[in-house]
Amino acid sequence: MPVVFVPRETEPGETRVAATPASVRALTKKGFRVVLESGAGVLSSFADEDYRNAGAEVSSDPRSAYWVADIVLKLHPPVYRKDLNLDEASKLKPGALLISFLWPIQNLVILQRLATAQATVFAMDQIPRISRAQSMDALTSQSNIAGYKAVILAANALPKLFPMMMTASGTIKPAKVVVLGAGVAGLQAIATAKRLGAVVEVSDIRPAVKEQVESLGGRFIEIEMDAGMEDSGGYAKEVSADFLKRQQDLVRKHMIHADVVITTALVPGKPAPMLVPEETVQAMRAGSVIVDLAAGEKGGNCALSVLGEEVSKHGVTILAPKNLAATQPIDASAMYANNILAVLRHLYPEVELQLDFEDPITNGSIVTHNGEIRHEGALKNLSPAQRKRANTNPPASSLEGSTTPAPETDKSKE
Ligand code: NAI
Repeated sequence: MPVVFVPRETEPGETRVAATPASVRALTKKGFRVVLESGAGVLSSFADEDYRNAGAEVSSDPRSAYWVADIVLKLHPPVYRKDLNLDEASKLKPGALLISFLWPIQNLVILQRLATAQATVFAMDQIPRISRAQSMDALTSQSNIAGYKAVILAANALPKLFPMMMTASGTIKPAKVVVLGAGVAGLQAIATAKRLGAVVEVSDIRPAVKEQVESLGGRFIEIEMDAGMEDSGGYAKEVSADFLKRQQDLVRKHMIHADVVITTALVPGKPAPMLVPEETVQAMRAGSVIVDLAAGEKGGNCALSVLGEEVSKHGVTILAPKNLAATQPIDASAMYANNILAVLRHLYPEVELQLDFEDPITNGSIVTHNGEIRHEGALKNLSPAQRKRANTNPPASSLEGSTTPAPETDKSKE
């Protein structure tokens, strides 16, 4: 019976957990033995008792739980846990399966440690966005929550109402919301703003999304597209400087009449496109609000965004919130736990782990296996010596008891 361990997430500000009482019930029914670190679900409002009632064992000794676990379920990449003086990566049992967000290129050192520990790592951020993988796609589930919450934050910060109101005291006009980028978060932002009664206008550079935007009641801002702006996987490609300037000018015309702007524009592997320069903010209505979801350590869609802070400039409030999914941990954890269940059903059709590297989901998402790093992008970023070392490992047992701190995790996008 494979043992599944669910540790407490220790990342600052994190409230989510990788398993809920409902997912534990499903796992135990499938024949897994589940061990949960005491308190792991508390910030998601799930008590130890709820997990026990669902069939989990609750452990106050995570050190031993790491060592016996065949499968470890996490949200954040392994860290050095100061509270336990324990390096999560090297504490994994050889051959253990870790399912977690990993961001291999940003976390090369952690990746090497995991390969050295002979762990098999399924990176939730590497799942291909194909329809067969939808139930496993945690980037999508968490972005959905972020898109919703971005609108709620904007409505809260906006000094006017969202819906139209016809009252004896006068008629209130609906708020006007502009959404830049209509991927997962953007589409949920459009739906949420419409539900609150706003008028919504949307810009994206993939012609395919026009129909989706209109089906949600949004108005698509037409722009003359260059050829080939979408790759074969359906993702946007980086646009030319000339196109970006045209787009900035066009969206500016809409933004200066807007009350709220939600920006979610992303091209995978590229810096966030600069869609809202300071001059545009300067021209916006006083009291209006920008929520920049694409903001990271290295900038965002708005020139004035500061990650994790609220900036007030030219009468406009600019929010660049971090980790919005963690502000709704009950549902965010439930969705993530369901994504993990789907991954486990995929990897364990019966009681044994089955890794079929002919399958694009398994092949794309398993980033270390049998002591080797399997992520091409990460391998390219290692020096030849590091690559050789990473893929010719000492036995993981020689690392047992290692307490060398792992570096801080950089969560910026790949
Ligand atoms: P996605 O890939 O589904 O959507 C991105 C969209 O941006 C695509 O539709 C793409 O065509 C569009 N786009 C690219 N270049 C554009 C341009 N020049 N103009 C207009 N649209 C453009 O990504 P997803 O999952 O919706 O995430 C969006 C952003 O939100 C990402 O940067 C992601 O990291 C961030 N995010 C932030 C969270 C937070 O808590 N702060 C949580 C979840 C996501």
